[in-house]
Amino acid sequence: MDAKNTPIQHLLVGVLSLALVFGLRRFLGLSQSVVFARAAFLLLFLTLIIGPITKLKKPSAVSSPLKLPWSWRSELGIWFAITSLAHFYFAMSGRPQWNFLAALGGGIGGEGYGLANLLGLIALFWSLILAFTSPGKIIKWLGVGSWKWLHSMTYVIFYLVATHTVYFQFFSKYRGGPDWFGWPAVLMAITIIFLQLWAFAKTLADQKRGKE
Ligand code: HEM
Repeated sequence: MDAKNTPIQHLLVGVLSLALVFGLRRFLGLSQSVVFARAAFLLLFLTLIIGPITKLKKPSAVSSPLKLPWSWRSELGIWFAITSLAHFYFAMSGRPQWNFLAALGGGIGGEGYGLANLLGLIALFWSLILAFTSPGKIIKWLGVGSWKWLHSMTYVIFYLVATHTVYFQFFSKYRGGPDWFGWPAVLMAITIIFLQLWAFAKTLADQKRGKE
């Protein structure tokens, strides 16, 4: 749990996120919706590798935030939610009357993508709830148990976003196959699953040896 959000960490992660967005747009000429989508995906990846890494490598006694990856988790997660919201805004804007039903019926992103849009919408809903419950004061107000329950949704978000991304990258008729982001995104998703399994195996082995 990362209850210490510092303004400097927020600023650094915010600058990194916006640099990524502007870099992708400036140098690769991608649409606004897609640059925010890819930045969000990368931020989610960074947020999610921290948990298993922390389990695999116990925190050292050093208290500098730069040396503690888990102390960046909440900032990364909050910026993930912000960039996801921007992606949703740009994906919907320009569509007639922000037509949600058309989006869910497959009207945006191509015919037949209603399910992919719905997965994205559910992921966004939970991402915003988690972002609002990430600041330290709210964690204290909620209590560790309730906070942990809520934030176990992170992995649900991951599977929803991964499926949403694979759908658009690999099965979108108007694209004709994945571009440079498709396979790296799959690799990142596999890395998360692999790290989770590894951390689980380690926790189990430690328990069996009576360490925990
Ligand atoms: C947590 C929320 C979300 C995340 C992290 C997310 C992420 C992504 C990613 C990574 C892609 C693939 C981009 C690419 O490589 O081309 C994508 C595509 C897309 N997403 Fe999402 N998405 C989310 C929610 C939504 C929602 C709520 C909608 C609309 C209802 C939506 C609509 C689209 C569309 C239409 C595309 C196809 C590319 C485009 O036209 O922009 N997404 N999304």
